[in-house]
Amino acid sequence: MTIFEKALASYTHKNQISPRPGFDLNDPDLPGKNRIGQLERLTNILNKDFPFDTINCIETGGSRSWLDGMVGYYFAYLSNNTKGKFTSVDINPDYEDEVNKAYLDLDPNIKITHITDDSLNLLKNPPYIPNLVHLDSWDVNLKDPLPSALHGWREFEAIESQMPVGSIIVIDDNWYQNNWVEWLTNYSDGRQDRERITINYPILGKGAHICQYLNGDDKNWKILDADYKLVIQKQW
Ligand SMILES: C[S@@+](CC[C@H](N)C(=O)[O-])C[C@H]1O[C@@H](n2cnc3c(N)ncnc32)[C@H](O)[C@@H]1O
Repeated sequence: MTIFEKALASYTHKNQISPRPGFDLNDPDLPGKNRIGQLERLTNILNKDFPFDTINCIETGGSRSWLDGMVGYYFAYLSNNTKGKFTSVDINPDYEDEVNKAYLDLDPNIKITHITDDSLNLLKNPPYIPNLVHLDSWDVNLKDPLPSALHGWREFEAIESQMPVGSIIVIDDNWYQNNWVEWLTNYSDGRQDRERITINYPILGKGAHICQYLNGDDKNWKILDADYKLVIQKQW
């Protein structure tokens, strides 16, 4: 088993699917169920293309609950088991204790550093040079998708030139043309709107601008996979 397969096995073993209000646990397309599939896909890519023995990782958007995916655990496992470092950053100070507790509860031996800050500040001045980055901060609102895409682009701009050739960046939450998404809006009074949004653009999501930019010629980052997780690698 490779280190990536071990991380996937550990994530899968610990995974606690907890549906958001309105989702059905028996639904095969439930986001929590898809996450293991997304990480299987990423594992195959990392197995094939990740060139470093030691994994120094940064995640933007701290992992604190299975509702949001707790995907940082997969990355923290990789860093911890290759003598590397793992840091996450989240702008919300209320999440600081929750993030630390979530990892501690999963595995008291796993070491992480969690920082409260705007991800752009951390990426502009990172505590170490990462070779694997998971961009998962500013949530996508498919009814107002540009702010999240802009933030994702600014995160990429902040860190990409600092990373060594061969590094990989994974950008979460992307949807592609002609697909549709069941979009739920929860209101504070308990009401919920449910509507089907068809994606009419080539891509919407955190990685939209990054993907558009890299689709041009002569770029030093290459798209390895354009799926829900957009995966890109530095070429020179
Ligand atoms: C989708 S959640 C992260 C999910 C997490 N990676 C997981 O797998 O469970 C997005 C997080 O991004 C944080 N966030 C939003 N804007 C941010 C910013 N500018 N800088 C850092 N974190 C931000 C939010 O507070 C929220 O906790």
